[in-house]
Amino acid sequence: MINNLNEPLEPAGEMVAGRTATLPKPVEEPAPAPADALAAEGIPSRFCCFVTGTDTEIGKTLVSAAILHTLVERGQRACGMKPVAAGAEMVDGELHNEDADMLAAAGNVHLQQNITTPYMLRAACAPHIAASMEGVTIEPVPIIAAYAEILAASDAVVVEGVGGFCVPFSDTFDSAQLAEQLNLPVILVVGMRLGCISHALLTVEAIVARNLVLAGWVANTADPDMAYFDENIEALAARIPAPLLGVVPRLEQATAANAARFIDLAGLPGWPSRGVGTT
Ligand SMILES: Nc1ncnc2c1ncn2[C@@H]1O[C@H](COP(=O)(O)OP(=O)(O)O)[C@@H](O)[C@H]1O
Ligand SMILES: [Mg+2]
Repeated sequence: MINNLNEPLEPAGEMVAGRTATLPKPVEEPAPAPADALAAEGIPSRFCCFVTGTDTEIGKTLVSAAILHTLVERGQRACGMKPVAAGAEMVDGELHNEDADMLAAAGNVHLQQNITTPYMLRAACAPHIAASMEGVTIEPVPIIAAYAEILAASDAVVVEGVGGFCVPFSDTFDSAQLAEQLNLPVILVVGMRLGCISHALLTVEAIVARNLVLAGWVANTADPDMAYFDENIEALAARIPAPLLGVVPRLEQATAANAARFIDLAGLPGWPSRGVGTT
């Protein structure tokens, strides 16, 4: 388990929900410095997160891109990472994946694609199948190494998971283990449609069982005709032990900027409180 990559991630006293909130306070420690004070002393506050979802095609990429968009607006060097992408086409001699492209467009740190997506697989299917078709074994070390490179070049990193939370990569590695190894606060995107409550609560259980911090959740309107939308949000909010960061309606144009208007990350660990465009 690699823990030290994300050292500045949890400025003491900033955690709003999840595991950190319940930790007992050490008795003799001096009062923790707020993130701003750390920045003033030259230690940059840093926002990094792992975005997972209740399913595939429910808005993880849209929400990840929206977060990157806001970070860039706040003057951050922000980079998206899609460590494993399944479904890529060759364009101008380079493999392209829609998610990876959208994250790259929303961020402002541009690294080689094999850093931001160490495993770019052609087939649009379950990653362990796509990988085996190409004779590739998806392993943690290249992903962790690439993440460290991104971290070195950026103030903020948004890592988008693959599909739901527990997607197999190989016989011995899956996306939940990747989240554990990166040890990032998790943002859960709930695709609002019938059935999402159980999907969401099972995902929360899986996140908490791995001792990961659930930083918050975003309700994204996957089905614009969902009955009792507000009541479903209420039921989720009552059961998810983390703040609701926003409700994204069905957008006419599903762009990062449009979705960003509905997501509020203020108060999350490492969230930049100052910078260009901040209030
Ligand atoms: N709130 C929304 N309004 C309109 N379209 C959306 C919304 N959320 C997602 N979409 C569209 O649904 C599709 C799947 O979204 P995406 O973010 O790629 O999901 P995931 O990353 O979970 O697979 C995309 O075409 C996206 O533009
Ligand atoms: Mg996606």
